[in-house]
Amino acid sequence: MTGTAFIHRFEPAGDAGSPPLLLLHGTGGDENDLLGLGKMISSGSALLSPRGRVLEHGMPRFFRRLAEGVFDEEDVRRRAHELGDFVAEARQRYGLAAPVAVGFSNGANIAAALLLLQPDVLAGAILLRAMVPLSDPPKADLGKKPILLLSGQADPIVPASNSARLAALLSDAGARVDHKVLPVGHQLSQADVTLSRNWISKADAKAA
Ligand code: MLT
Repeated sequence: MTGTAFIHRFEPAGDAGSPPLLLLHGTGGDENDLLGLGKMISSGSALLSPRGRVLEHGMPRFFRRLAEGVFDEEDVRRRAHELGDFVAEARQRYGLAAPVAVGFSNGANIAAALLLLQPDVLAGAILLRAMVPLSDPPKADLGKKPILLLSGQADPIVPASNSARLAALLSDAGARVDHKVLPVGHQLSQADVTLSRNWISKADAKAA
């Protein structure tokens, strides 16, 4: 099994009713980066936070890229499946329900790939500054999974047309997509935290 080789942090749930979060950092981040964000979004959730296994000039990532915004799609597929294996193993090891991904930038892109390639792995996702991860994704059935996509109006990395295309791709696959474009760039803002926290409490209530 390859999945368990992910270096990761795990923090158990404070409230068994809150969904576990799979935290996926951006380029150059690590397993510690999004723990604070995860707690702000859903304080009672278990947190599962792997470190990306690809290194770009020493910076951890979740898959290889050929240039900024140009992905090595064979690697995207391979790494998404590895991450899916890791989640399956971690669910067994820690006794977790299917997690909601919270991904930023490169982490949001691998979460989007995971949704399209292995639709059963995630219960839903918060995708912060995500792009279309695959030019020719398989036909996925996302069966009404809730997805929050937060994009930046002035994001120099993700063009508006690309995030709109991702929202359409996920909706076409059956997900309930809430796409908001914020007056920010690529970096996270307070609005991301507030909107994510509100969304997850409602997504929770719907699932209950
Ligand atoms: C990516 O490579 O996933 C995107 O360009 C975002 C980034 O990590 O800069």
